[in-house]
Amino acid sequence: MTFVDDTRRFTDDAVGAARGAASLDDLEEQERLHLKSKASTHGLLKERIKREDDRAAAGRLLNEARVEVERAFAARRDELERAARAESMVRDRIDLTVGGGEYRRGHLHPVTRIWRELEDVFVGLGYKVAEGPEVELDWYNFEALNFPPGHPARAMQDTLYVRLGEPEQVLLRTHTSPVQVRTMEAQKPPIYVVAPGRVFRRDTLDARHSPVFHQIEGLAVDEGITLGDLLGTIEAFIHALFGPNINARFLPSFFPFTEPSVEFAMTCVFCEGAGCTVCSKTGWVELGGAGMVDPAVFEAVDIDPERYSGFAFGFGIDRVAQLLYGIDHVKNVWDGDVRFLRQF
Ligand code: PHE
Repeated sequence: MTFVDDTRRFTDDAVGAARGAASLDDLEEQERLHLKSKASTHGLLKERIKREDDRAAAGRLLNEARVEVERAFAARRDELERAARAESMVRDRIDLTVGGGEYRRGHLHPVTRIWRELEDVFVGLGYKVAEGPEVELDWYNFEALNFPPGHPARAMQDTLYVRLGEPEQVLLRTHTSPVQVRTMEAQKPPIYVVAPGRVFRRDTLDARHSPVFHQIEGLAVDEGITLGDLLGTIEAFIHALFGPNINARFLPSFFPFTEPSVEFAMTCVFCEGAGCTVCSKTGWVELGGAGMVDPAVFEAVDIDPERYSGFAFGFGIDRVAQLLYGIDHVKNVWDGDVRFLRQF
């Protein structure tokens, strides 16, 4: 075989081997066999040049062949590397859309939310928000509100006394009404305030009662305030919160610090008045008490009952939250169980 023939065969074989290499390892092996070592086909041809007559022509020929073979190996290497990269892209792919550990963002407690909504409604009606202490003096909680010592109405608000100062003079407030007294001591009419806050009673826990709960108190004192203003105000906030189909109902009642006094209820939101288990088949749900400020209270805070009149109301915020969110047992409001609270 001539050098020319053998060089041609070398080129064909080596190019074929390069193209047919199935992997990078295979390609390297073929490259070693054909091109890279002294014992390779190329190595042996190179040895033969010395013995050729026209060494320069043989050298040139083999050089051209080598360049062609090298190109074939480079091209195949490129292909195989590209394929390997594409494969690893698929295999090692990280799906960024899967997302990692997620932080749950909390939200306001349903009672806090209703508390704020109620404030908003009354602020919209021109009221200011007032506050008072949760640990209160007997004077504000009872005495100035016309509950004299030993008055039987005190027993209705069975309270928790604090061992501080004179016996039975410091207590956890049983209602937000003491804020009425504090407000009227601090400012003169016209007064339009609401006072939301936490109150305490020695009640046994059941579906509707809890020893800790929230009330919102309202107080309006001005010239010419009538019972009609009170009823209209209560109706306005019930409509604002529950919509126009839910109505207010008033029944005569008694509180030492209002005269006349009423109890007010709203249409049961669950049955819309038809009667269900939530409203004990009455179609109404009790919300709170209200009435015209008793002249005895005005006297205790030095406001002239001949010139001014006013109304006050107070009702349970937890009760409103229960109704708005359909919470059956008030205990759920207080447990602080996130599985429950997450629903709202
Ligand atoms: N403070 C009363 C209660 O807790 C409710 C009330 C407030 C009644 C204002 C009349 C006026 O039962």
